[in-house]
Amino acid sequence: MNSASRYPVYVKSVRYEAENIFSFELFPEQGTTLPAFTAGSHIDLFIPGVPTRSYSLLNDQSEANRYEIAVAKDPKSRGGSKLIHELLRAGDRLEVSGPKNLFPLNEASETSVLIAGGIGITPLWSMAQRLESLRAKWRLVYFARNRESAALLDRMNKVFSHGHIELHLAYGVAETIAAIAQVFSQDVAATHYYCCGPSGMLESYKSAAGDVPGDRVHYESFVALHDAATEGGFEVVLAKAGTVVNVQPGQTVLDALAQVGVEVMNSCREGICGACEVVVLEGTPDHRDSILSESEKASNKSMFVCCSGSKSQRLVLDL
Ligand code: FES
Repeated sequence: MNSASRYPVYVKSVRYEAENIFSFELFPEQGTTLPAFTAGSHIDLFIPGVPTRSYSLLNDQSEANRYEIAVAKDPKSRGGSKLIHELLRAGDRLEVSGPKNLFPLNEASETSVLIAGGIGITPLWSMAQRLESLRAKWRLVYFARNRESAALLDRMNKVFSHGHIELHLAYGVAETIAAIAQVFSQDVAATHYYCCGPSGMLESYKSAAGDVPGDRVHYESFVALHDAATEGGFEVVLAKAGTVVNVQPGQTVLDALAQVGVEVMNSCREGICGACEVVVLEGTPDHRDSILSESEKASNKSMFVCCSGSKSQRLVLDL
């Protein structure tokens, strides 16, 4: 599977899922195939005139040659979700990246707890379907503003053999924090937790996890949790190219590299999609992404150059 490749697809159907949320069913162009994916994966959409954005696949990973995403129209949209809602129709042609999974399911886990807030339901619904097929115990805790804004509810309206769904509507901040804390209060060894939702919910989730080992606490953000590092004032050594690039104040590493003609694959430019990951050979990055766990950040093995800077005067990258 190659997430750097692009695949031509057409929109088979557009469906109203909930207030301000449409789902899009994507099929490969005739004579082509789509790479298989695993629950938790996302793809990038490449539509001329629309900023590239990543969207989680919501369908069952057992489905071959079909991707399904749901897009919430963000009121603060800089063009991505708003244009997709306005422009993308059944029959339209576009390109997508291969699937990339930064939020993988631990399939060996006996019990999984999935916590979703709003449109964060999409990767978790794919996970719930996978866990059901694996006959593994699961529980989906789904928070939404109200029934009208809760996507995919009609698909959940069935009896599951190995899991169940708990829908929490119109919860205030305090009630949400208490409900998440309650989830962790019942922790038993070997349960894995997954959360996708707004930044406030992710913060509550991380804090409620407390002493639960980090390798059982997984999350994915669909908004940037930190500002990009643009302080500059350090040098980046490109080990393979043998060149040195100075990162100036006001620039990200990605900007500085582009200025000297070094292209690094990128998409969201916010530390969310994972496209611009680069191996770090020396130096201490100032991690600003919303992807790496605390232990991964501490290992300093890689960094996302669209948003992360440097704490050391010199960074040596495997470029
Ligand atoms: S471009 Fe998306 S993480 Fe850097």
